[in-house]
Amino acid sequence: MVKIGVQQPPAALKPEKEKAAGGDGAAGAEEPAPPVQGRRSSLSGVCYLTMGLLVLLLGLVFASMYVYRYFFITQLPRESVFHCGVLYEDSLYSPFRGQLELHEDVKIYIEENYEQINVPLPRFGGSDPADIIHDFQRGLTAYHDITLDKCYVIELNTTIVMPPRNLWELLVNVKKGTYLPQTYIIQEEMIATEHVSDMEQLGSFIYRLCSGKETYRLKRRSARRRISRREAGNCHRIRHFENTFVVETVICGKS
Ligand SMILES: *[C@@H]1O[C@H](CO)[C@@H](O)[C@H](O)[C@H]1NC(C)=O
Repeated sequence: MVKIGVQQPPAALKPEKEKAAGGDGAAGAEEPAPPVQGRRSSLSGVCYLTMGLLVLLLGLVFASMYVYRYFFITQLPRESVFHCGVLYEDSLYSPFRGQLELHEDVKIYIEENYEQINVPLPRFGGSDPADIIHDFQRGLTAYHDITLDKCYVIELNTTIVMPPRNLWELLVNVKKGTYLPQTYIIQEEMIATEHVSDMEQLGSFIYRLCSGKETYRLKRRSARRRISRREAGNCHRIRHFENTFVVETVICGKS
């Protein structure tokens, strides 16, 4: 099958060669033919070799990707616990207050695809201690405000929260220096909306955290509408980080 393809062109070329050669005769026409065929077959040989090498290279790439993934996954512990601290500039309330320190424990469950964060009561107050779950499977975040003993649930915001594997890599890198380099804080404002009665719809991880506690859904408040002083009395703040910056989640009751 292949040979037919290779032999056809020289036959088709011959008349043209004869025409081009003109008066050179039969001897002149036969001589150029073998080199053409030789060049052709060596050309297809190079083609086959290149294709073979390409396939081999692709195979190697896929094999090494597989090996890398396999070893990387088996290397990751099922559960990793990090005790972390960050220094950040408190630009939200007083830019002159200077550097603050935030500590938290981060548990990362790579296989189950969720993160659990415990924020203790900060030394200088201002924000509540809390347990937070980011469930990437369900796409939900739950805050358990320990001071109020209430739970708040909202869709997971992937702009703010790093997925488990990325957070794990970040914290492993940070661990070498214990602290992140100095970072900054952003604020998000939420309003508690309806009461959640069917807790099981929130998935087993959030269920375990929030079951038996008053639980509310949260709605983001647009950045345009700032909290008024009267409302502020009804708000609680939780400062936490699951990225390279600190987030203050302000949770306000219905007013
Ligand atoms: C996620 O958070 C960022 C930063 O606060 C905000 O700009 C964005 O609107 C949020 N996205 C959702 C879907 O809530």
